[in-house]
Amino acid sequence: MPQRSARVRAHAKVNLSLKVLHKRPDGYHEIRTVFQTIGLHDILDIEFQPSKKTEVSIEGMDIPDNLIGQAALLFFDETQTTGKVRFRVEKKIPMGGGLGGGSSDAAAVLLALPVLAGRTVPLPDLMRMAGELGSDVPFFLVGGTVLGLGRGEELYPLPEAPAWPLLVLAPRLQVSTPEAYRALGRELTSLADVSKLNVLQSFVWGGRLSDLENDFEAAVFGIHPELDVWRQRLVELGAPAARLSGSGAALFGVFPDRAVLERALPRFPSEQLQVLPTQVMNRARYRAGWLRSLSEHVNGSQWPPQSRYGK
Ligand code: C5P
Repeated sequence: MPQRSARVRAHAKVNLSLKVLHKRPDGYHEIRTVFQTIGLHDILDIEFQPSKKTEVSIEGMDIPDNLIGQAALLFFDETQTTGKVRFRVEKKIPMGGGLGGGSSDAAAVLLALPVLAGRTVPLPDLMRMAGELGSDVPFFLVGGTVLGLGRGEELYPLPEAPAWPLLVLAPRLQVSTPEAYRALGRELTSLADVSKLNVLQSFVWGGRLSDLENDFEAAVFGIHPELDVWRQRLVELGAPAARLSGSGAALFGVFPDRAVLERALPRFPSEQLQVLPTQVMNRARYRAGWLRSLSEHVNGSQWPPQSRYGK
């Protein structure tokens, strides 16, 4: 088989809503979240060549221990495949922002590499591999608007959110996820206190913007008060909802239309923040993008990934 290559887009996510429940015996926290893919994306160029020896190289990232390499090695290991794979990454998603950049890159590898290597990996196996790489990785195999339970890896697609224009603000600071969980301390939402989940249920059922919530805000804004100032500015400039994404430090504002968003853009100082206008990306467009990127190499059994128990 000759060398095969693809250029794929790894999209970012925001958490439209995020409730953190108790800490579990395995050390993770039980969460209830609504994930949403957005237009903002990294670009990955992937080249695969069959070879008796596995070699993975990555250009464009200065982090040696990144999830792209880990995802590739996991694929080779699990499928007992060998090969040379080269990644070139154009990073657009700010790191450490709660936007899922690293997780999305890893999921992109799990979606593209089997196709380039001519292997069919059933969806349950892909999901398990994704979950091993990180709690947010499985979501990027699905895309769109998705309810995430457990540590975020148990996924149920929801009716799509409207194509809201979004303004993402990525401050030039990073919040470590484990640190953010630790900072939550006693402010966890107890399962026994059902009323705390009512707002999430209400959002899932009704899609009202006033029902967006993120449990990390109090703790993370306590450490970085300037984040709440930016959040409030998003609201003042016309976003009916503005929230922290994941454990931060990125914020997003949901805007009623493009014109209001465009007027808000120059009101944020680009020396302190990356100001990234984008929009909600639904599952149909997310999947169509994947199919387009891989269409040259894909065969019927490979895409979309299917359950081995399916038809
Ligand atoms: O799964 P992931 O590698 O992204 O998680 C990083 C860290 O964040 C975990 O080691 C854990 O400390 C914390 N975490 C958590 N509960 C979750 C997800 C992550 O406590 N649901």
